[in-house]
Amino acid sequence: MLLKRWKGWELPERAVTPESLFRNRRSLLKGLAAGPMVLSAAALTGCGDEATADGDPASMIAAVPPDPSAHLYPVKRNPAYADGGPDRPITVEDLATSYNNFYEFGSHKDIVRAAQDLKIRPWTVTLDGEVAKPKTIDIDDLLEQMPLEERVYRLRCVEAWSMVVPWSGFPLAALVKLAEPLSSAKYVRMETFMDPEMARGQKQHWYPWPYIEGLTIEEATNDLAFIATGIYGKPMPRQNGAPLRLAVPWKYGFKSTKSIVRFTFTSERPVSFWEELQASEYGFWANVNPDVPHPRWSQASERPLGGGAKVPTLLYNGYAEQVAGLYKGLEGERLFM
Ligand code: MTE
Repeated sequence: MLLKRWKGWELPERAVTPESLFRNRRSLLKGLAAGPMVLSAAALTGCGDEATADGDPASMIAAVPPDPSAHLYPVKRNPAYADGGPDRPITVEDLATSYNNFYEFGSHKDIVRAAQDLKIRPWTVTLDGEVAKPKTIDIDDLLEQMPLEERVYRLRCVEAWSMVVPWSGFPLAALVKLAEPLSSAKYVRMETFMDPEMARGQKQHWYPWPYIEGLTIEEATNDLAFIATGIYGKPMPRQNGAPLRLAVPWKYGFKSTKSIVRFTFTSERPVSFWEELQASEYGFWANVNPDVPHPRWSQASERPLGGGAKVPTLLYNGYAEQVAGLYKGLEGERLFM
């Protein structure tokens, strides 16, 4: 398979953007627009051929139509998930909503502007496969039915950066219940929209679009598995995966797939987007483990967005108590890739 050698989030740890540089992004972007810095800065940030260096994210977002679900937020915080844990403060909103991985809109971090093209209405969610009766639900009907709450979760990207964010949404288990899977269904496969005219990244034919991710039914019904529909007490911004995305905080961030249109219940293990691209580096399970390095960099520590010192990475990203039991008897599997 033809593979680009440097995909943005596959950077070795030494090449991940230093936070001081990122915090100074505005001046960096002015520099990018000015000329000769382009190549060196682009290499540092992993930016490829389509760096979007023009404009201010806030004004780009102000220009798009408002989210019709805005009246639902903020929602009440679940006290069981009230913070990111000791020494893990909530990430500054501007950072979490402007330093993104969303390959459909570009294989670099500056996709805010491009992602404003994402049309979030009409939007339907299909529940199909091995279920009692396939259903397609309008997103606003779904939001009305689901038990919305806020949860603060850590997110650990496989690139060795991390953030702590308050997601709004509902337990994935509630959606599984609505789908009524048959007992033959062992996995849930999640599919992102496919529209190369809207999301130009999908014209890059060497990627196996649409973005696919999967969980076992046991993982999907674990209390931690969450469908996020908002962030920081507001509807989900397009760049973070509006109108609904997965949040599975014990797994590397690439499992938390964005802008989902279909949940298919199946007896066959789904092959995910990154697994299909590079199975030697990215597997189905992708559980966070500081002791298992990525083939090309260490996973022992992480750099919180917003600067400051690196912090140690925790087994299952600190959620072992809730999820370690899911993997009893699976020790022969590549659980941490
Ligand atoms: N989902 C889709 N559809 N496309 C993507 O490129 N990137 C993943 C994940 N979900 C991605 C995706 C990766 S690598 C990470 S780290 C997180 O989204 C980043 O989420 P954020 O941009 O909200 O921080």
